[in-house]
Amino acid sequence: MAIPSSAVGAGVGRAPGKLILCGEHAVVYGHAAIAGTVSLGTVVTAVARPGPSGITESSIHDERLWPALAGVVPPEGVGVSITSTLPIGCGMGSSAALAVATVRAIADLAGEPLTFAIEHARGFSVERAFHGNPSGIDHAVCALGGLVRYRRTPEGPVLDRLEGLPPLRLVVVNTGKPGNTAEMVAGVRERGCEATLARIGALVGDVEVALRAGDLPAVGHLLDENHRLLDAIGVSTPALDAACADLRAAGCLGAKLAGAGGGGVAFGLLSRPAEPVVQALRAKGWDARALDLGA
Ligand code: MEV
Repeated sequence: MAIPSSAVGAGVGRAPGKLILCGEHAVVYGHAAIAGTVSLGTVVTAVARPGPSGITESSIHDERLWPALAGVVPPEGVGVSITSTLPIGCGMGSSAALAVATVRAIADLAGEPLTFAIEHARGFSVERAFHGNPSGIDHAVCALGGLVRYRRTPEGPVLDRLEGLPPLRLVVVNTGKPGNTAEMVAGVRERGCEATLARIGALVGDVEVALRAGDLPAVGHLLDENHRLLDAIGVSTPALDAACADLRAAGCLGAKLAGAGGGGVAFGLLSRPAEPVVQALRAKGWDARALDLGA
């Protein structure tokens, strides 16, 4: 998209991060997954300026940043500033929130109305530049917001917002080491994990039933099972396993890694106030925080 020469001032785009509640990796193969947005996110400002477009300032430092954004920022006339409160490369949708916020900022600057379909299509080019051949769940959820069931089909993504459910109270632990989504997805493909991926896919349906019944202990057990299956396909790490064990010991109903694995975050589900659990985990040396999913 070109920026009209009449464009002045700044366009602003915002997007939240996400966590996958259940179904990562299986979603790459066409199984459903459930994910929700979190209250951390990214703000992109696009300012009309003379000369070639580029990044003016950024709180995200990654050599893939400009090559990825160049697919959605016009080559001339735009300076892009990026501020994010999301941990980078940790399974919380930092690249997806960046993709959606940038698409929104450029459209805002150009005075162009956006639909979800346009945001999703444009955001895909940013996500592909970062992650190879992603399922599209991350930026779909960041664009739609709330708690969402997502399935990739040859005809395009099928999404449903899970309406009427209260946000889920989580404690998120960051193991401090980012994971590489493209490498983790490629590793699962090489190992050929179809049967386990199908079991993960089946869990997603059970999680949705338990969520709709308000049965959080059952959701917790299913999250534990999801973590075991993710470990079985080789994407957990000793730090993620230890974080999940400590989340459970601190009072969470269940815990799992979130996102591609190989590092990044794990979370636990709670049905009671989060602060004592956060304090207990911090006392064990973890970088822990409370977050609501799907708010
Ligand atoms: C990454 O957040 C989720 C994965 O399932 C990859 C994808 O869906 O593209 C691991």
